[in-house]
Amino acid sequence: MDFEHVLVAGAGQMGAGIAQVVAASGRRVSLYDAAPGATERGRAAMRKSLEKLAEKGGGDPDEVLARVTAVDELVQADLLIEAVIEDAAVKEELFRRADELLPDGAVLASNTSSIPITSLAAVTARPDRVIGMHFFNPVPVLKLVEVIRAVQTSDETAAAITALAEQLGKVPAQANDFPGFVSNRILMPFINEAAYALMEGVAEPEAIDTIAKLGFAHPMGPLALADLIGLDTCVAIMEVLHDGLGNPKYAPCPLLRQYVQAGRLGRKSGRGFYPYT
Ligand code: 3HC
Repeated sequence: MDFEHVLVAGAGQMGAGIAQVVAASGRRVSLYDAAPGATERGRAAMRKSLEKLAEKGGGDPDEVLARVTAVDELVQADLLIEAVIEDAAVKEELFRRADELLPDGAVLASNTSSIPITSLAAVTARPDRVIGMHFFNPVPVLKLVEVIRAVQTSDETAAAITALAEQLGKVPAQANDFPGFVSNRILMPFINEAAYALMEGVAEPEAIDTIAKLGFAHPMGPLALADLIGLDTCVAIMEVLHDGLGNPKYAPCPLLRQYVQAGRLGRKSGRGFYPYT
């Protein structure tokens, strides 16, 4: 399996980043998004990122972008990487449609941060060829790909996706399909606890983030990171952990929920724990 042509579904922050690294590896990419204007915004984000990388000796942005074609419906490809919104029903419907359209040998991968890969596999007629391929934001910069095996995933599929992650210049790490996998099972309670510390008046946001940055050598503090990820996404992932693991310690912090209700979603809405211009 060499995945010469990859269909990326979802042209948001993650989908555009994934399309970019796949195209930068020399593969052809079809970038699909149902929302009007989304693929154009995705391409603009890719260009900005590629220009930053070109300044440091990366490849020609035009050459990489020439391998990315925007499409307004699903197309045949060797691999689907799905990065649409974190909604199980939306993802399952997309997997059903892709399963009908893509050739039998194609692999269907999801970039989900928390939805069970096992249930996405179960809606298809090729459950052995369904897998999680979880990238990290900003995708062109962060090296990790968490490879998540559904109960049904074959060894061959897991090996092919692990090899692909390496060919994209990433470092794969395998996890099994439990709520939040490994990454978000660790990260989200950390962010949630930081939100509790703020809500309970333990410290101001800047102090909380400085403590994590300078005390634990994290590149950014948990509140700034939550703003980067999106507070709505953080709440959605905490809910998956809470429902799936059944432990009250995973309940989303009320302050996170309140900010989401107020439309303070983080960088993407211009305000989260911090304001953005
Ligand atoms: N494309 C290309 N280059 C980029 C970039 C992008 N999108 N974003 C940043 N860079 C480059 C910058 O140009 C800069 O390069 P330089 O060092 O050569 O000048 C370098 O990366 C560092 O960027 P900045 O100087 O702007 O700022 P920072 O040093 O603070 O780095 C950061 C920014 C890379 C975002 C860093 O703060 C970081 O790694 N933060 C942690 C991010 C993280 O934890 N992400 C995971 C989120 S969890 C997730 O995605 C999973 C999901 O399921 C929730």
